[in-house]
Amino acid sequence: MSAVSCRGVGKVFTSGRTRVVALENVSLEVADGEFITLVGASGCGKSTLLRLIAGLDEHTEGEIEAGGVPVQGPGADRAMVFQNYSLYPWLTVKANIKFARQLAVHTHDRTSADVEAASGRAEALLGLMGLAQMAQAYPSQLSGGMQQRVAIARALMTRPRILLMDEPFGALDAQTREVMHDLILHVCRLEGCTVVFVTHDVDEAIYLGERVVLMAPRPGRIDSIHAVLLPRERNPAMKHSAEFLSLRSRVLERIRETSGLITDLELLRKLSQRTTLGQPLQDTSSANAP
Ligand SMILES: Nc1ncnc2c1ncn2[C@@H]1O[C@H](COP(=O)(O)OP(=O)(O)OP(=O)(O)O)[C@@H](O)[C@H]1O
Ligand SMILES: [Mg+2]
Repeated sequence: MSAVSCRGVGKVFTSGRTRVVALENVSLEVADGEFITLVGASGCGKSTLLRLIAGLDEHTEGEIEAGGVPVQGPGADRAMVFQNYSLYPWLTVKANIKFARQLAVHTHDRTSADVEAASGRAEALLGLMGLAQMAQAYPSQLSGGMQQRVAIARALMTRPRILLMDEPFGALDAQTREVMHDLILHVCRLEGCTVVFVTHDVDEAIYLGERVVLMAPRPGRIDSIHAVLLPRERNPAMKHSAEFLSLRSRVLERIRETSGLITDLELLRKLSQRTTLGQPLQDTSSANAP
């Protein structure tokens, strides 16, 4: 059984008379324990797909299952990490991590032993994420990389089966991001999570993913799925391997082809030629007509 299963999924946003087809006929199976990455031009529906799997939005067509159960809203089996760290600034690092569990304790009338267990789990996660020294610090005292590690630890607190990440490292500098890559691979393997990870960065997508799912816009859809034929245990040297580099150029080329960027560039080129020749800029389409 797949950890995540999307079959013929569609999502249309309607507001008044406007209708945006954000996703059309998306079918995707993610195996238990698999790490997949989603890339594609801006607006191709990556975040929308993630939100549908998280149950934060409702799909308008098709079926989505998590762990064999139809997704009808958010659930403790799925956790999401966003690009902006979204920590509670008034709570310490440790309190931020424990927060989700504390809510569960209050709502489900748990015992103090549960709270104690949550405390142990929070400490274990702090250690795993290299944050043990920072337990009593406040978010404003942490670097971006540290804040994002807290957000990941918080997401892992409830032992989700599925971790959904939307450009979680987008705001970090290149060096910090590299460190985070190896950390997240290690942590997710240890926790046994299935991961769906959205990114703009093709290098990041290949380094982290067992498969790279390339999406295309207008309407948002899956264009192609690329298996990453690198050893499962990744190391930074692999970024220079022939497999990595050839996959990278294939994916980049395909993103260019599907995003409409090539057409835009071609149009720009034609326009600049016209200007050099002193011809008018308008109506490039009829310029070649007899
Ligand atoms: N709440 C909403 N209401 C209306 N349209 C929306 C809404 N959310 C997303 N869309 C539209 O759906 C499409 C897909 O958006 P989405 O945010 O999923 O793209 P994305 O691939 O994540 O883009 P980016 O790479 O820029 O984050 C876009 O055309 C967007 O304008
Ligand atoms: Mg997005």
